[in-house]
Amino acid sequence: MPQDAVPELSDYQPTLADDRDAIVAGLSAAQKHLAPKYFYDAQGSALFDRICDLPEYYPTRTELAIMDERADEIAAAVGQHACLVEFGSGSSVKIRLLLQGLDRPAAYVPVEISRGHLLEAAGEISREFPALEVLPVCADFTQPFELPTTREPMARVVAWFPGSTIGNFEPDEARRLLEVMRQQVGDAGGLLIGVDLQKDRGVLERAYNDAAGVTAEFNLNLLRRLNRELGANFDLRAFRHHAHYDATHGRIEMNLVSLRAQQVSLAGTVVTFDEGERIVTEYSHKFTREGFAELAASAGFHVEQVWTDADALFSVQWLEAAA
Ligand code: AVJ
Repeated sequence: MPQDAVPELSDYQPTLADDRDAIVAGLSAAQKHLAPKYFYDAQGSALFDRICDLPEYYPTRTELAIMDERADEIAAAVGQHACLVEFGSGSSVKIRLLLQGLDRPAAYVPVEISRGHLLEAAGEISREFPALEVLPVCADFTQPFELPTTREPMARVVAWFPGSTIGNFEPDEARRLLEVMRQQVGDAGGLLIGVDLQKDRGVLERAYNDAAGVTAEFNLNLLRRLNRELGANFDLRAFRHHAHYDATHGRIEMNLVSLRAQQVSLAGTVVTFDEGERIVTEYSHKFTREGFAELAASAGFHVEQVWTDADALFSVQWLEAAA
């Protein structure tokens, strides 16, 4: 294979049509809900990239700063010749920093649901790191998938799950997902994970209600996607973005609120909304150090190291398979 070619894609990209029943069920439930993984079509992924640059959205910038500052310690923990598997790679900005710091990684496996984003990012990483084998997998990482075989022998599999995406999952689902990762990495493996921390409500709520309205656009884009891909007829002007911190559950809850009583049809079903009725579109859980350590332990991981910024806004944690 020529050095600058992108290796073949392992393509398991699901379409929204595959998820039609789950989507209809979510919109027919007493509390209407849609899973946040549906945010990430091409437009949604681009909007998320813009969120990451917002002044109010501290997680991305803080996580990058921690990784930059702790690059040597992180490299020492991961060790040589690791096969790095990134869960939900998006546009892979942070991975550059990680790859630069690591000692001769054996391969990089980005796993991402949005095929366009995945291929673009995989191509860029291949060009920037010509010696590195890049093996993209287009898949929903919440379901087990097969790891591609690496050309070089590798020392261990290390999962990389940045951005506090773990916060999207309710505690039971989060444990199940960590169990899947624990299986993927095996007994010699590790998990490097970004975990957002509990903090002042004002800081949290501003991060999900930015002044420029990008998060609102990101949220509403979900309805645009249902219109396009499932033939729904949502009126985007008849819903508004709402986000608030639920301190009891330690999570941001994002909603789309119906501005009037209305009916929407999708996939042969009619969904009725009262005025003010909400669709829950995302939870973003925030953790205490102890709470996350317990969650990790319940999935067979032991927290070896926790790195944070000076204000303890965010953490990067190194987990190994528990003995
Ligand atoms: C990608 C799930 C980590 O929860 O902060 C950002 C997504 N939603 N703004 C988050 C998101 C609204 C983000 N995660």
